[in-house]
Amino acid sequence: MTRAISLHNVSKAFARGVRVVDRLSLDIDPGEFLVLLGPSGCGKSTVLRMIAGLEEADEGELRLDGEYANDLLPADRNIAMVFQSFALYPSMTSRDNIGFPLRIEAPGTDPRPRVDATARMLGIEDLLDRFPSQLSGGERQRVAMGRAIARHPSVFLMDEPLSNLDAKLRNHLRAEISRLTRELGVTTVYVTHDQTEAMSLGDRVAVLRGGVLQQVDTPRAVYALPRNVFVAAFIGTPRINLLRGVVRAPLDGAMTVSLGKQALRLPEPLSLDHRLLRVQQGREVIVGLRSEAVRIARHATARPGEVPLTGLVEHVEFQGHEVLVHFDTGSRPAVVPDLEAPRPTGRPPRRRRRDGATVLDRLRDRASSKRAGPVVVLEHPADTGPEPAPPEGRLPGDLVVRTTPDIQLRHGMQVPLLVDLAHLFVFDQHGERICPSPARLPDLDE
Ligand SMILES: Nc1ncnc2c1ncn2[C@@H]1O[C@H](COP(=O)(O)OP(=O)(O)O)[C@@H](O)[C@H]1O
Ligand SMILES: [Mg+2]
Repeated sequence: MTRAISLHNVSKAFARGVRVVDRLSLDIDPGEFLVLLGPSGCGKSTVLRMIAGLEEADEGELRLDGEYANDLLPADRNIAMVFQSFALYPSMTSRDNIGFPLRIEAPGTDPRPRVDATARMLGIEDLLDRFPSQLSGGERQRVAMGRAIARHPSVFLMDEPLSNLDAKLRNHLRAEISRLTRELGVTTVYVTHDQTEAMSLGDRVAVLRGGVLQQVDTPRAVYALPRNVFVAAFIGTPRINLLRGVVRAPLDGAMTVSLGKQALRLPEPLSLDHRLLRVQQGREVIVGLRSEAVRIARHATARPGEVPLTGLVEHVEFQGHEVLVHFDTGSRPAVVPDLEAPRPTGRPPRRRRRDGATVLDRLRDRASSKRAGPVVVLEHPADTGPEPAPPEGRLPGDLVVRTTPDIQLRHGMQVPLLVDLAHLFVFDQHGERICPSPARLPDLDE
């Protein structure tokens, strides 16, 4: 099949040596809604601007509808872009704003029928004679979308189009964008730093970090089988619990993942995934537990595949329909850099060579982007400076569990918990997922 958009090893640097997009390869099917997701500064807009032709790739190849497009002028790409700032001409009415690109493209043709049809589609017929200053933010963004739609482009590029709107309007327009793009069947690349938006809109989600593609998959697959700890932490609310652990695999006893003062004891016989953990014996790993992986077990007994853990209630966050309980389990949280703040540009951090690094480690070092650096830093204390602070909302407890409001918990209570090992994630020192096994294909319909 001819791809609508195809990027092959595309790189871009603004300052010498600092790639803001690093060897990005991505194929987008005709009619697909692809979301580019990542923290601020990770290169999302730059990717979009390269597809639009507003920015030139330093390296790599861009194809549109199968044709080599690196040199194609923006005007020859049949692409319409919608930006975060609504970018309307203030001296033109909505009608003229929507019709403007049509008049440029086909001078002498009456743009009215198309403008009217577009306005009907967006429900903005009564706004056509108003000027931008007479419109609310949401109305302005609808007009801006109208301008993109009226041209009947083959590709929509949307760069955080909802970021400037309040939450309620954002949800409303999000549903509208989803409906419209599917109705029109136009290939869409949508940029956002908001994982909820990405998950609810995308046919597939491409997660970027420091200009490097981390994973591209369906929303289901990036949630259920995140390739690394960054993807796991970036996607899902409340954020996945990430605890530092050590795999212990005595020859004569049950294998455990110790979490500071406690340990998860893996049931025998070991599952295939757990057997794979053997190679990590003695090494530090990151244990990932989403809130559905842990339940409060005050009056419950363990089901098969569940193992006990104890938590000290540190903080109870009432949220109405649910309650988030922060537990201290005596373990240390793992810190994933870059989750919200952009990495300062300039000289990329050097990763220190550890003793005992394997050839694979070294290859991986070389392959990983200089700018992006390792996904997670788990090194000997002597190797690092002061430990970075855990992310916001993660203190004081280190394990956040979601529960129903009827459960009464107070600060200082010791509470038995049950961990469902079917939902256990383990990541290696580089942040790559090792459990469930990386070889496992998404089998999400079971
Ligand atoms: N024209 C430019 N000149 C220099 N640096 C730029 C330019 N555009 C973007 N950058 C830098 O490139 C990086 C990625 O930017 P951008 O693609 O806008 O990220 P995002 O859209 O994900 O927030 C940032 O560090 C940004 O400062
Ligand atoms: Mg941007």
